[in-house]
Amino acid sequence: MGVRDWELKRFHGEEISTHRGSTYNAYIVKDRRTALVDTVWTPFHESFVADLDREIGLRNVSLIVVNHTEQDHAGSLRYLMERIPDTPIYCTRNGLAMIEGHFHRKWNVNVVRTGDSVDLGDYRLVFVEMPMLHWPDSMATYVTGANVLLSNDAFGQHYVAPHLFNDEVDQAELWQEALKYYANILTPFSDLVKKKIDEIKSLGLPIDMIAPSHGVIWRDNPMQIVEKYAEWADGYHEGTVVVLYDTMWGATRKMAMAIARGVERKGLGARLINIGKSDRSDVMVEIFKARAVVLGSSTINRGLLADAAAVLEMMRGLRFKGKIGAAFGSYGWSGESPKVIEERLAEAGVELVAEALRVKHDPTEEDLRACESLGEKVADRISA
Ligand code: FEO
Repeated sequence: MGVRDWELKRFHGEEISTHRGSTYNAYIVKDRRTALVDTVWTPFHESFVADLDREIGLRNVSLIVVNHTEQDHAGSLRYLMERIPDTPIYCTRNGLAMIEGHFHRKWNVNVVRTGDSVDLGDYRLVFVEMPMLHWPDSMATYVTGANVLLSNDAFGQHYVAPHLFNDEVDQAELWQEALKYYANILTPFSDLVKKKIDEIKSLGLPIDMIAPSHGVIWRDNPMQIVEKYAEWADGYHEGTVVVLYDTMWGATRKMAMAIARGVERKGLGARLINIGKSDRSDVMVEIFKARAVVLGSSTINRGLLADAAAVLEMMRGLRFKGKIGAAFGSYGWSGESPKVIEERLAEAGVELVAEALRVKHDPTEEDLRACESLGEKVADRISA
């Protein structure tokens, strides 16, 4: 059960771009007792509950599992519970607090911990707490007998496709969206991802399918996305340099291009991105893939251009691991931007490997040579 949201272009308010829409996957496990696992985002509550009623009949829902209380999965709960108010709900302790906080209702909520289970008949639901992956309340539900892991947000993609399973869809699209999802949502929790993967592997559960709450279901070699998460959680990069710049009249752009020339002279690839013209979630993907992040902005009002500042704020929150970098920028009179960028890169956990470069007005040939040297220095650090 679920919703294919072909129209969705922004998620978490306006924070994350979802160029290929998204889905809100809920699941029903049919057995002697029938379980509903998660619901869908609030705007779809009426059609979701109508679909559920048509599919199994609301009175046949024996229990509801709330793997996660974020509105994209629990948003239809209030409307559903108005129709079947006595139905038991299963969630984590933090889930209970969040259900109360969001819905202000007293329902029949049962708190579960890792290893707790509920028998449905032939199948049994086993719960696995996943705190901070990516909310304190998150958990996964494993269906014994069917060997399906209902992983909620983990292993998802903001991706709506005309098919349900990973082997049926365009692989380039699928992997782009899976990586973008990890980079923009799960990066801050990478240490927990590694631990949780080890824990799940050590349980030795047979897993025939991983069914997340966004995007397609992994049925063809489902462990491939688990292996990918282990790789992404471990200071992932592709050895490249990304040169990000925000520019008022083009001087900072000239510096960026010279820095990229320096990188390329050393035989490495550099990706140039004008932050002011780019989608920030896509920029995060390029930062995630890069080993080095060189970031520049013109100085305005003794600080940074707003798009550069926003990218640095996102980097601070996402805390990418194992990145090196440097700062640069042009100015007219006060020239604070490179220093501010250095401070914010350091705050985001980026190791600064070259002095910030500051150019007054338009760069001279000498200034551009200095920019090329900065590019070379960064490249040398990668190759060392
Ligand atoms: Fe897809 Fe954390 O909600």
